[in-house]
Amino acid sequence: MINIALPKGRLGEKVYKMLASVGYGCDEYSEDSRKLVFKDSKGEVSYFWVKPADVSVYVELGAADIGVVGKDILNEYDPDVYELLDLGLGKCKMCVAAKDDWQDDMSVPLRVATKFTHTAEKYFAQKGREIETIKLNGSIELGPVLGISDVIVDIVETGSTLKENNLRVFECISEISARLIANKSAYKFRNAEIKKVVEKLSEVTKR
Ligand code: PRP
Repeated sequence: MINIALPKGRLGEKVYKMLASVGYGCDEYSEDSRKLVFKDSKGEVSYFWVKPADVSVYVELGAADIGVVGKDILNEYDPDVYELLDLGLGKCKMCVAAKDDWQDDMSVPLRVATKFTHTAEKYFAQKGREIETIKLNGSIELGPVLGISDVIVDIVETGSTLKENNLRVFECISEISARLIANKSAYKFRNAEIKKVVEKLSEVTKR
């Protein structure tokens, strides 16, 4: 049986449908259920639903052989896993955004509100810009709106959250999408099974 960690929520449901379409469906699966583990009656596959940021933890520790996680999380936490495939789902960008009329004052450290503190620190260190990081856990856009930060480093998908709060993108840090990852020892010892999943998913992602 192959154990797969999926991110709870919209992305996870899309990924599950993609896996089901290539033969990894699970008869116990239901979108409305509060169940966290689904096993296939043929005994081929078992799914766990976990918080998106925890997928790589389960995969790195071997509770899941493979999983699906956003590139934003891989960039932020740099887990010790193999990244096998870009699924082309959940496409968005990691950006620096601020109020429409923001101008950088280089004489003081830049106050950056973000969930992605390592990503922000790495990015501004490369640019040689001194920053002060303000770690938030959601509604990051409020940082500049309420004046606790100058800019934010956050995910932009449609851009509507920024627009509705009179913010805009100033810089794009990286392109994000969902990636299939594997536990390193599972990749060695269950190589044929994992490669089969990768091959089947590659066929649908190419379409
Ligand atoms: C994410 C992100 C932005 C928003 C971007 O937040 O942090 O706030 O989506 O999407 P958009 O460009 O399509 O408007 P999420 O909905 O995950 O909630 P959060 O604020 O709690 O992080």
